[in-house]
Amino acid sequence: MAVPEILLIDDNKQRLHLLETVLKFMECTVIVASGNDYQLVLSSNDLDAIFIGCSDSTQTNVIKELTLHSNGTPVFLVIDKDQPQSQSNQAMLAGVLEWPTVYPKLLALLNSIPQASETNKKPQTNKGLAGQSKAIQKIRDLINQVAKSDATVLILGESGTGKEVVAQALHRSSTRRDKPFVPVNCGAIPGELLESELFGHEKGAFTGAFNSRQGRFEMAEGGTLFLDEIGDMPMPMQVKLLRVLQERTFERVGSNKTVHCNVRVIAATHRQLEQEIIEKRFREDLYYRLNVFPIEIPPLRDRIEDIPFLINDLLAKMTVSQRGNIRLTQKAIALLMQHQWPGNVRELSNLIERIAITHPDGTVDANDLPEKFQAYTIPDNLPTISVTPQWEETNSPSIPLFKPGVTTGNTVQLPEQGIDLKEYLTDLENELIRQALDECNGVVAHAAKLLNMRRTTLVEKLRKVDV
Ligand SMILES: Nc1ncnc2c1ncn2[C@@H]1O[C@H](COP(=O)(O)OP(=O)(O)OP(=O)(O)O)[C@@H](O)[C@H]1O
Ligand SMILES: [Mg+2]
Repeated sequence: MAVPEILLIDDNKQRLHLLETVLKFMECTVIVASGNDYQLVLSSNDLDAIFIGCSDSTQTNVIKELTLHSNGTPVFLVIDKDQPQSQSNQAMLAGVLEWPTVYPKLLALLNSIPQASETNKKPQTNKGLAGQSKAIQKIRDLINQVAKSDATVLILGESGTGKEVVAQALHRSSTRRDKPFVPVNCGAIPGELLESELFGHEKGAFTGAFNSRQGRFEMAEGGTLFLDEIGDMPMPMQVKLLRVLQERTFERVGSNKTVHCNVRVIAATHRQLEQEIIEKRFREDLYYRLNVFPIEIPPLRDRIEDIPFLINDLLAKMTVSQRGNIRLTQKAIALLMQHQWPGNVRELSNLIERIAITHPDGTVDANDLPEKFQAYTIPDNLPTISVTPQWEETNSPSIPLFKPGVTTGNTVQLPEQGIDLKEYLTDLENELIRQALDECNGVVAHAAKLLNMRRTTLVEKLRKVDV
């Protein structure tokens, strides 16, 4: 089961209704019970957490009962912001949720649930792949399924839907995560250079080949090669790629020495490959090789419920990299959720960046959005989640996610042809910073702790690079 199942009890009916809506919006399964029938629910459900709202003292007994009979299921107390807290039950609680809340706090709390309950259920992680729609959850499940194997994966989706984001998430979830992720845009490299780009060349292999050079397959050794825009690969190269996929061997251009490789291939395209086959631009045999495990990313217009989460992710990334600290009102988000987004997430990302420039450090309301959004009407039911980049302030539970042993002395092998050490170390540093930020949901202070560096040092580093 990928979504948390939550029992919700609250004597404040309005708060109960709002919290239920928000949790459902975050794709949780919510069971609402009254103070009297909760025991029945407890005994018949496989719960991940219990949220109990309490506005008067009669609930105190229910809390006590619940914590005693919850069988290890974490119990969170929900209270209004200014409500005085009774200390008596605090020790038995997994946490306190102050109401009203903001999205990052609730997400952090939900993320902490599997650790608290020590169940085997999957956390609602946000590792670079924002969104809680059914489609995104399914993609997360597919990533988890295929990550353990070395199967070739084909990612399909319109331009800007997040194909590269999914490829990176897959690499990071796989056992190859400590090895390189090497992207190649097959559409951007001229056909005659693509072979040398992928397989490398020997000195003198062609005019201008003054030195021998490693190709992307060799660079990705032990890791993942991401063949982006595979639908644009010229036919002669498709034959050569097919051979590598079948035999895991290739030769550098100008060499007859066969090189064996251990590389996982992820390919992506926005093209309809079946149509490309009919039009004789794509080889059918290669298609079947690549299509072992397809992952299809639907266009953003078919999963508009992801928009608030994506906005939150984009705003948080901007705050972390000091590119602005803006906030969108719920009316503004409601308008954005009505757009068709032909350019998908990339279009949304460009819009947010543009707004951050025109409204630095400000609140963006519906009428601050560009002209084309003004044609939409603001619905009566606004999204109930407040989307603000408050990661720095988020008082989230600690997230103990450090993965030890990225590289140890004997797992790094100096390549025959040598290495650019400075570049290698910079890449390694950036990768570890990025992972630390991912692990800490972007909270720079927490990431700095994981990296054992001062927060200000990390902020300084983030200012220089886009991790
Ligand atoms: N689920 C997501 N969560 C967070 N960011 C996302 C998500 N999907 C896409 N993005 C962002 O949207 C932009 C486009 O994503 P990406 O480059 O992966 O798309 P693509 O499908 O490869 O596009 P193209 O076909 O144009 O190459 C990037 O800035 C990426 O960070
Ligand atoms: Mg791409």
